Amino acid sequence: MSEQDQQTMNFEDRRAALEKIAGEIRVCEKCPLHSGRTKAVPGAGRADADIMFIGEAPGYHEDQQGLPFVGASGKYLGELLGKINLSRADVFITNVVKCRPPGNRDPLPGEIDTCMPAYLQQQIDIVKPKIIATLGRFSMALFFPKNARISKIHGEPLRQDGRIYYPLFHPAAVLRNPNLRPVMEEDFKRMLALIQEVEEVSDEGRDEQPPPPPKQLSLF
Ligand code: URA
Repeated sequence: MSEQDQQTMNFEDRRAALEKIAGEIRVCEKCPLHSGRTKAVPGAGRADADIMFIGEAPGYHEDQQGLPFVGASGKYLGELLGKINLSRADVFITNVVKCRPPGNRDPLPGEIDTCMPAYLQQQIDIVKPKIIATLGRFSMALFFPKNARISKIHGEPLRQDGRIYYPLFHPAAVLRNPNLRPVMEEDFKRMLALIQEVEEVSDEGRDEQPPPPPKQLSLF
């Protein structure tokens, strides 16, 4: 799809384009992860979401259901979204790699290098989120400098190429280490200001549109 086409996509076009990619993901055999999966997990949510959350890789429950973040981490992610008055349906949620690594091991560089350009990059180009929130170090590593440490940069937005990248701890890491709970909740609450920021930018853009033509005066 050309860049021009992507710029002019309406909601239905985006939904259809995401579904087409999801279909490709479900039958993908580009890397060895396909041989161990039950179901591939393309991602889910609003086709024109302002916020995209990117996790690492499907786990056991995601692999069973074909949906992202449906296990314990997902339940916690849903709670965090609720704290800022959002639901899963308001955002787009996906992962760096779309198939479960055996035994939930870390995805390998070759798997990421194969999967990311083929699928995640296309999903980003279609949804065009204004905020990309990374969950954990694997998705963080795609957008932040190589030497970035999640323990240092979590909650610090990076504004780049008209988009905000926002690094968060992985929900599973927070579930393992309850000391991180207040930190994670604070980082989530700080997203409210980012959401307001991107909404203001969209409103300014709207002001630049030419005014609508005057309505015809009705004779009756
Ligand atoms: N952890 C992830 O990174 N992604 C999921 O979808 C579930 C758990």
